[in-house]
Amino acid sequence: MIDDPNLLVGLKSFDDAGVYKLSDELALVQTIDFFTPIVDDPYTFGQIAAANALSDVYAMGGTPLTAMNVVCFPTQTMDVTVLREILRGGLDKMREAKVTLVGGHSVEDSELKYGLSLTGVIHPKKIITNAAAKPGDRLILTKPLGTGIINTAIKAKTASLEVISKVTKVMTALNRDASKLMQAIGVNSCTDITGFGFLGHACEMIEASGVGMILTSSSIPFLSEAEEYAKMGLVPGGTHRNKKFRTKQIELDPSLSPELIDILFDPQTSGGLLISTPQEKSLMLLDQIRKKGMEEASIVGEIVSEPKGKIVVKK
Ligand code: CO
Ligand code: CO
Ligand code: CO
Repeated sequence: MIDDPNLLVGLKSFDDAGVYKLSDELALVQTIDFFTPIVDDPYTFGQIAAANALSDVYAMGGTPLTAMNVVCFPTQTMDVTVLREILRGGLDKMREAKVTLVGGHSVEDSELKYGLSLTGVIHPKKIITNAAAKPGDRLILTKPLGTGIINTAIKAKTASLEVISKVTKVMTALNRDASKLMQAIGVNSCTDITGFGFLGHACEMIEASGVGMILTSSSIPFLSEAEEYAKMGLVPGGTHRNKKFRTKQIELDPSLSPELIDILFDPQTSGGLLISTPQEKSLMLLDQIRKKGMEEASIVGEIVSEPKGKIVVKK
């Protein structure tokens, strides 16, 4: 393990991005994320992959500055126009985020993959880690859950065009505005919801912060179609892995439906922020986030001191 006093956030706390101090006023925020396509349209996939990678910088309270494309492409079997469309989608998201593309790297691979390596900046005293949630805090979730289940339905050709456009809107939305608002008002802790699912990332937050969490399932936003598809068994394998991995730490109200439980563990792509904010700021921050177009943002629960290391999901 590298012992460097300038490494402010490293691998140990399973946070969203690494943070490295350059001076008393400036630190770098660095992260990389890339994956295989989850939607058919290459331009849309490029947008989603870029928004997803950017999210880890926003979750730390950082400002992304530069990006590098990471590309794995099957040149033998796929038309290069597909790649061009993916890169165009990525670039459009970078423009929206005011991030400059500085380079990248591509390799030949049997399976297409795309994403970004990102560098941002942050004030070393203003880092929002996943390790500082405090008892009494309220928890805001900024985007609805269920994208993994809906993407599974898309792959199974079950999803309607209307649902596809709805889930695309959720996944291409930047977490930038919510991040800026939480920085301005001052919050204790944040992480973004991605592959380990809502409860998986919530578990990381309580473990890193040394606290417990109580959630009210009826206030947790999700895409209604996800419930329908989960009932049909269109649930990604990752949902079951996430559930198995965290089940001992989570106490679920016995009245919760199996579909809702699937949604709570569903791996998300470019999911929302989970923000732990002092109670007195929570309603104002929620209102500000909703006014920026994240209309389904909601207060989903609170941080408690006991039971430590556990999440209680109430009805
Ligand atoms: Co993250
Ligand atoms: Co990530
Ligand atoms: Co290279």
